[in-house]
Formats: sequence, C-alpha cells, structure tokens
Amino acid sequence: MPSIVSQPVAAGLTRSAIFLVVTISPGSGPELAVRALCAELSSLLRAVGFRDLEGNLSCVMGIGSQAWDRLFDGPRPRELHPFREIRGVHHAVSTPGDLLFHIRAASRMDLCFELARQIMARLDGAVTTVDEVHGFGYFDDRDLIGFVDGTENPAGPDPAAATLIGDEDAAFAGGSYVIVQKYLHDIARWDKVPVEEQENIVGRYKLSDIEQPDALKKPYAHNVLTSITEDGEPVDILRVNMPFGQAGTGEAGTYFIGYSRTARRIERMLENMFVGSPPGNYDRLLDFSCAVTGSLFFVPSATFLDGVAPEKAEMEQAPATSGPVASAPSRFSGDGSLGIGSLKEEAGHE
Ligand code: HEM
Repeated sequence: MPSIVSQPVAAGLTRSAIFLVVTISPGSGPELAVRALCAELSSLLRAVGFRDLEGNLSCVMGIGSQAWDRLFDGPRPRELHPFREIRGVHHAVSTPGDLLFHIRAASRMDLCFELARQIMARLDGAVTTVDEVHGFGYFDDRDLIGFVDGTENPAGPDPAAATLIGDEDAAFAGGSYVIVQKYLHDIARWDKVPVEEQENIVGRYKLSDIEQPDALKKPYAHNVLTSITEDGEPVDILRVNMPFGQAGTGEAGTYFIGYSRTARRIERMLENMFVGSPPGNYDRLLDFSCAVTGSLFFVPSATFLDGVAPEKAEMEQAPATSGPVASAPSRFSGDGSLGIGSLKEEAGHE
C-alpha cells in the first residue's frame, strides 16, 4: 500500500501569504475545471516554486461541504459541513466558500501572487472570488493589536498529530480540516486600552510575549478560553494567522486560519470565544475584532488531489489507508519534492 502524502498544512508561519476563497459557478463545466486543477496543482506549484527555492512556496487547497458533493462521489469526510454561525455575545458569521487556497512563501509575495494568478487562470469563468486577503509579516510576528501571534502552536512532530486525520476516518487519513475567519480590528479603540488590560485580555505580556502565570490570568483571557481538553488531555490546533490591511481605508485586521484533525475542536474554541465559558465569560478580543467571514473546508491529502481525474465517472475514490501517512515537506528538500507533497517525484522544472 503506497504511503499517503498530506498537503503541507504544517508549512509554518511565513512573511507572505495569500488567502483566496472562491465559489464554483453552476454547471458541469466549472466542476470539470476544478477537478482538472486538483490534479494539476502540484505541477503548478513545482513550476512557480522552482523559480526561487529559498522562497519556500507552498499551497494548501481546501474544499467546502457543498463543493465536495458536486465534485466527488463516494464517501465524504466525516466532519465536513458548512461553517456553523455562532450567535453569542458576539456573532461569528458563516459566509460562502467552495474552495480555499492558502498560499505561503517565506517572504516573497511575488511567488504567492504568481501561483494565485496561475490557479485563477485555470479557473477562469468557473469560479467567483468571494474573498482575497494578502497577509504580511508584521515586525516580530505580531498581529495588528501588537501581540506576537503563534507562540503556543504545536512544534516538532506535534503539528502532524494535531492536524492530520488518522484512523478515526480512515478513508480520509492524511487530510485535515481548516476554518478561516477574517477579523477587522478597531485599532484606534484598542490602542486606548491600557497595556495591562490588553495583556489580561490576551493572557500574555505584550513586549516580552511571556505567558501570564495561571494564578494571574483572567478567566476571560484569550489563551484561557482557547485552551481545551479532549478526554482530559490538552489538545492543539495549528494557527497560521496573518495581519492584513489597507492604510487608506483603515480596513485592517487578522486573518485567522486554524487547521485541525477535527473540525469540532476549532468549533469548541469558537464557542468559548463568542458565547463564553461559562456563557457570558466571552473573549474580550471580540469587543475590538469583528469576524466578517467564516468558512470551513476539508483539506484532502495531496495523494487524493493528485489522483483526481477530470471526468467525475473516472475519478478515484479516496484511497484506502492502511499505508503510513507522511507530511509533505514544508520546503524544497533537494530531492525534488515540493511543498504540495506531490507523489510525482521528479520536479518538472522546464
Ligand atoms: C481576532 C483574532 C485573533 C487574534 C488577534 C488572536 C491572537 C492570539 C494571540 C496574540 C495569541 C497568543 C500567542 C500564541 O500562542 O499564539 C493567541 C493564542 C491562541 N489563539 Fe488566538 N487569536 C485570534 C483568534 C483565534 C481564534 C478564532 C481561535 C480559535 C478558534 C484562536 C485560538 C488560539 C489558541 C488555541 C491559542 C493558544 C492558546 C494557548 O495554548 O496558550 N485564536 N491568539
């Protein structure tokens, strides 16, 4: 049984990223175009990424619930459903999205843009862009509220354990779930909050990025409400948030993107933030941050994408999985394998 290669979910935080969310137009022609792209994505990435190996270009493609049913027959990922809005103290909206492209490069927006352009050229006439955000690294990986973002992400081998599906849904092992939300910050109002209270809201010290001692943390601290357990054990998700914004309009914020092997884990964190835990003890970050989008996608393995045939009838089912699951390398490894984790081993860099 060949091993299953995942998409490069754990490629890590970069200085440049594009988050592209599109919907698929009605009809079988657009579906054909999307299926063709699934199989071509790894070679597109090879072609663009090879132009600067140091650029560390990667791309993760996610597929929404309705799109999945249009594109694929057969079994569907167990937890794939449309993003469920949350109406608590604050409102987590659910917005349309059939496909997500999460494109990252070390610090070269040109690589991200070129890959996004090539993807959109293949989808010309087949999709409508509903949201496109260009994220940038901001000083020492701070978000626009001035705090370092990403510190407590799982490290070492842990990102794979936190993000990749295993035996619990064997037909989709090596896949992942991803939730994205675009948050707009009221930075002017946030900047008026005394730094001590900002630190209580986040649960960390602003300048040093050191976590507050548990005894001092407020029950509403962001890192208290997003720390959850399953069967008594603490569990993680992988966040690759990026700041974005336009100085002219003042529209600026944090693009939240969280990967997890179970959608439920991210949804529980969101409930804690928006409704509160206990209800009413909500995340004060939301008094200064408004979620204007919200979508959930399934991230199939790279092996699955590579095997998609343009015609639905010929399409392969999700590969059965007793084979080992491998994470795609997050950078060119010198052996011709690239960020997408394609099984087509020889880098075709003509
Ligand atoms: C306005 C949007 C958000 C901002 C500005 C933000 C910012 C931050 C910051 C500054 C930290 C502390 C440093 C770190 O460990 O990364 C953090 C931690 C964290 N955030 Fe967020 N976040 C946002 C939304 C979310 C959402 C929507 C979720 C989950 C659904 C989430 C989950 C987490 C988790 C799990 C941690 C680590 C907690 C710990 O173990 O200490 N965040 N976030």
